[in-house]
Amino acid sequence: MSARALPALVVAALLALLAIPGPAARASQPASAARATPRVVSGTTGPAIPWQVALVPANDGAVVTPLQAYCGGVLRDAWHVLTAAHCVADADASSVAVAAFSGPRSAPGPDAQVQRVQGITTSPAYRASTEGMDVALLTLAAPLAGTPMPLPAPGADDTGSAALVSGWGDADALTPGPQQPDALLRGVVRLLPDRACGMYAPYYRADTMLCAGATGPGVVTDACQGDSGGPLVRHDGGSVGPDGVTDLGHYDRVVGLVSWGVSCGDGRFPGVYTRLASPAVQSIAALADPPFRPDATGAAPAVQGLLAPGGTAHCTPGRWSIDLLTREYTWRSVGAGGDVRLEGIGPDLPVGAALVGRALSCEERVSSAGGTRTRAGGAPYAVVATLAQAQALSGARTRRPATGADLTPPTASITRGSCRTGRCALTVVARQSSRPARAVRVTYARTSGCPTRGAARRRCSAPRSLRVARVAGGVFRGTTRRLPRARWRFVAVATGAAKLHSRQAVRVLRVGR
Ligand code: ARG
Repeated sequence: MSARALPALVVAALLALLAIPGPAARASQPASAARATPRVVSGTTGPAIPWQVALVPANDGAVVTPLQAYCGGVLRDAWHVLTAAHCVADADASSVAVAAFSGPRSAPGPDAQVQRVQGITTSPAYRASTEGMDVALLTLAAPLAGTPMPLPAPGADDTGSAALVSGWGDADALTPGPQQPDALLRGVVRLLPDRACGMYAPYYRADTMLCAGATGPGVVTDACQGDSGGPLVRHDGGSVGPDGVTDLGHYDRVVGLVSWGVSCGDGRFPGVYTRLASPAVQSIAALADPPFRPDATGAAPAVQGLLAPGGTAHCTPGRWSIDLLTREYTWRSVGAGGDVRLEGIGPDLPVGAALVGRALSCEERVSSAGGTRTRAGGAPYAVVATLAQAQALSGARTRRPATGADLTPPTASITRGSCRTGRCALTVVARQSSRPARAVRVTYARTSGCPTRGAARRRCSAPRSLRVARVAGGVFRGTTRRLPRARWRFVAVATGAAKLHSRQAVRVLRVGR
């Protein structure tokens, strides 16, 4: 899948470990390092392979040349194509088309067909190609002519057999940048015992992966970037002579799909394929009437809320094509230095002081019976120090206010106030978005009968606080101690959930007479 489908991160880690240039590193190599050996790496050209298809960017069924074969695939039946899950990991059905053609990509034969994809089915267990289940079943919008290739019997073991791998993937692993051949290349490899992929432990998983390659010194036949999802087809037995690549009549079962490997054509590292005889893999690959996984139909998830300590970040859900079975949210933050931290799970994330200065993102993972999809959304600004700053930024950048109780000011009113035998009782109702306000503070001060000036007056009329308790919902109540005869001014202040807003209510009560 050329540079677009970089192998999973783990493979990148392996590459780094082994100091073998991967596709990304390769692209930055000096041109002088190129032109070493042509290496499907060490493949040859030949007649059209009638079960091979190419995944191309969708363009409504039109044939646009040269056809951009970013991955391979194999025709399972007229309506269905098998490919690698990693080829369509982030694709909607509408963004992929399937091409079947003879001749070169730049000048396909007159029989060339391009078909739109109606739906994609992957395993809910699929995460990355190195974690197994690297299989996707594409249901076409209309049937495709060609020669379907049958699946092996579940559990069948063809270790030792010869097999044909084919694709438009890189033919020269050493030349900088993708080197997509114009012709469909193919080569014969052996189905190897699992232990031959022992160097890939713990990433090689024999239950859903198959090890295949040529062995020997120097450059050997192998799949490479761009071949992913393409067929590994078993030879029916007997010796495979040099005609093994031209006489296609002896290939009878698709046993693997190109999945991953370290480097290409390096005899020390075999290719890893999706094992199509695996019962787990067949639970997807052999589905007669596959359920589709969700496609993105509208807005991606986005981070909203007040991104400052004391606030709450909310992940607004993305829009998807079908009813979902599950939706999960994962929060990450990125620091100025690029360090990524896992912050939590769930649709809401309380913002703590440790997040100040970091950029928040939420990833939404959804599933249907047809597989899972993920989409992520970022925050409009990095976490700031105060809620007031956050509010200013939220207002400026997102036209409509973030959801959540924080942004609705609380209400406050003194619904009852009376004094008897010198004691004043006060009832305050304070709510925010129909929930009780976070807190109510009540102060009162004497407004009559105090000296007219000086320190004595200040002492006399200094506000005192009245302890109130929440008695129900947003109802708060408190009673003063015995007060001298005078007029008293009560002020109740209700504070909202994020301490962002407050509202006050005032009532003057008279003690005595
Ligand atoms: N992951 C690659 C792709 O997306 C296929 C790599 C196969 N590599 C190998 N050495 N057999 O096309």
